[in-house]
Amino acid sequence: MMNVIFVKDYDEMSEKAAEEISKVLTSKKDAILGLATGSTPVGMYEKLAEKYKKGELDFSQVKSVNLDEYVGLPEDHDQSYRYFMNYNLFDKVNIDKKNTHVPNGNAPDMEKEAKDYENLIDSLGGADIQVLGIGGNGHVGFNEPDDELNLFTSVVKLREETIKDNSRFFKSIHDVPKHAISMGMASILKSKKILLLASGKNKAKVIGELLNKNCVTTKNPSTFVRLHSDVTIIIDEEAAKHVKR
Ligand code: GLP
Repeated sequence: MMNVIFVKDYDEMSEKAAEEISKVLTSKKDAILGLATGSTPVGMYEKLAEKYKKGELDFSQVKSVNLDEYVGLPEDHDQSYRYFMNYNLFDKVNIDKKNTHVPNGNAPDMEKEAKDYENLIDSLGGADIQVLGIGGNGHVGFNEPDDELNLFTSVVKLREETIKDNSRFFKSIHDVPKHAISMGMASILKSKKILLLASGKNKAKVIGELLNKNCVTTKNPSTFVRLHSDVTIIIDEEAAKHVKR
């Protein structure tokens, strides 16, 4: 089932997204959360931390797997995804850091790291819910539009437009890593539920492609979520601008 929730703005998107995660956590105390980075889920993490503070959520038995990580950034670099997750969520709730997994972008053997990460996802039995943002070019995780998409966790080369998009977070465009390690499309689709979030006009084109047509295309990797049987998509007015209703 594909459930599309149209909301007004970023704040409402974040609120609804936090509710979806809360539903999973209250029905399963030891849930496996598939988590994402980028600016899109920041508000959702804030709301989850608030709910935790109010005593509404308990993360003590929760485990997490993140989608991706840059290759070659030190863990404590403020743009590494490990740093992002600690800062935006893990340090604010009672999750055991040992139970949180982000691919290691500094492993001595990155191919082995990718295989081990995929095995880890399998050993956890897949995520109960996987949060996804979406790149302006339709990428999910770091699965960039191309003729072929990876099935499983792999080391990937970032496209110029992604490096440009993400350069806003770095001192200069030259500081943006050229490679990343990312779950593949099959790794993502192993999750029991998918929660895709999009906000802002930069996402309108790819969201239009995703929702207006009944097909998938490697030119817009986000379309592959259409192959999943339990998808919730939360989009705000600006991101929904091209969606035919
Ligand atoms: C990054 C991440 C993606 C994320 C995307 C969108 O490249 N690897 O997982 O969805 O950017 O970022 P934002 O949410 O900041 O628009």
